[in-house]
Amino acid sequence: MNLKNLKYDLADGVCTITINRPDKMNALNIETISELGFAVNEADQDNDIIGIIITGEGPKAFVAGADIAEFSAFSPKEAKEMALKGHNVFDSIENCSKPVIAAVNGFALGGGCELAMACHMRIASTNAKFGQPEISLGVVPGYGGTQRLTRLVGKAKATEMLLTGDAINAEDAKSLGLVNYVVEQDQLLLKAKEILSKIAKKSPLAASKILELVNAYYEKGENGFNDEINAFSESFETSDFHEGVAAFLEKRPAAFTGK
Ligand code: COA
Repeated sequence: MNLKNLKYDLADGVCTITINRPDKMNALNIETISELGFAVNEADQDNDIIGIIITGEGPKAFVAGADIAEFSAFSPKEAKEMALKGHNVFDSIENCSKPVIAAVNGFALGGGCELAMACHMRIASTNAKFGQPEISLGVVPGYGGTQRLTRLVGKAKATEMLLTGDAINAEDAKSLGLVNYVVEQDQLLLKAKEILSKIAKKSPLAASKILELVNAYYEKGENGFNDEINAFSESFETSDFHEGVAAFLEKRPAAFTGK
């Protein structure tokens, strides 16, 4: 497997996928999303693997979002392709037949929070931060954030996080049910492996069926994801989006006009 932006490690039946762009806070460019889809699919098909851990390289970031520099010049059409691709890959994580645990080792912002939420469980290190700051860029989340955050933490808190763009810390994420455990950073992978080793002792067939059934709880056929993809794409036509992205890249506060 020739992966440029990920590490793919196998040990004791556990596949650990590490997003490996630490100098860019592990931001998800299109190539990384593609590799992630490929890696998850490989792990899903491999009978020797009982579970998957997704984490980020380095001590600071799990994933700080989609790659802003890459998408800054996208047309609405390209933005739609980007959102569709991300949804596709994150859906494949959510629908994986093996348990997928996000080991959130730092910032999980935007696409990083969305990636963590697509996993079946989340464990956070004490320094982790979760948020959907897209509104500060003049865009809506594009990888499932409006839908999965609402499912996980409820409408009121999700709305607040999505509208303010404020991030929450690991303990608050735990009290909201967004993460299962908070541990010291050096314990993160150990905790994830401990959970997977418990599951490894159970029926793999029942385990994969349970994953399917838990997903089935959420009403099938809802239109929210499509609405989000369209709204994400439409954001790319607005001045606020161009201003928000330019301000980020120029490291200055954004001056939004609401246009
Ligand atoms: N896309 C592209 N590049 C990103 C990025 C992203 N989402 N997040 C961080 N980076 C890059 C920075 O541009 C910087 O690159 P440079 O060294 O070439 O200038 C590098 O990663 C380090 O980030 P920096 O901002 O200097 O680190 P920090 O510790 O001061 O702040 C964050 C960390 C995560 C708070 C900050 O990087 C941030 O706000 N990132 C964007 C989060 C976001 O809006 N995500 C949603 C995207 S849709």
